[in-house]
Amino acid sequence: MADRDRTEELTDEERKRRSFLRKVMWSSAGLVLAESALAGLALFWPRKVQGFGSTIRAGKIDEFEVGSVTRFRDGKFYLSRLPEGFIALYWKCPHLGCTVPWDPARGQFACPCHGSIYEPTGQNVAGPAPRPMDYMAIEIRGDEIWVNTGAIFERRVHSDEHVTKV
Ligand code: FES
Repeated sequence: MADRDRTEELTDEERKRRSFLRKVMWSSAGLVLAESALAGLALFWPRKVQGFGSTIRAGKIDEFEVGSVTRFRDGKFYLSRLPEGFIALYWKCPHLGCTVPWDPARGQFACPCHGSIYEPTGQNVAGPAPRPMDYMAIEIRGDEIWVNTGAIFERRVHSDEHVTKV
C-alpha cells in the first residue's frame, strides 16, 4: 500500500529514469544470456583439423614415380613410392626421436644424430635404431592417396603388409 502510494507520487522524470534503468538491466541480462548460449554452441561446432594428426591428401597416384620419396612437412611424413605401392613413413627416428632426412644421393634415410640408416621401406639397416621407421595408415580414394597422420604404427621388421598396394 505504501509502495503504491509512493509510485503514485513519482514525478514523470523519475518514472522515465526508472523505465530507462529497467530497460538497461534487461538488455544487459539478455546480452549475457546470448553470449553464454553462443559460447555453449561453439563447443559443439566441429573444428577444422589440419596438419599433423589429421588425414592429409598426398596427391594422385600417378604423380609419384616408382622410387620417389616425397616429404610432407605438415604431416611429418615421407611418402615412399615402392614398385608394389606406397608406404607413408613417420619422419621421427625410432632411436631417440630426431627428424630423419631423406638422402637422395644414397637412396636412403640417414639420421644425423647417431647415424641410423633406413631403406625406402623404412627398414633400418645400420646404426642404433631398434626398429624400422614407423608408418602411417594410407587410404586410396579413387585415384588419390590420403595419409592418416593420426594412425602411426610401430613394427619390429618391415613387411610387405605395411605397403598399400596400387
Ligand atoms: S636419433 Fe636417429 S639414430 Fe639416434
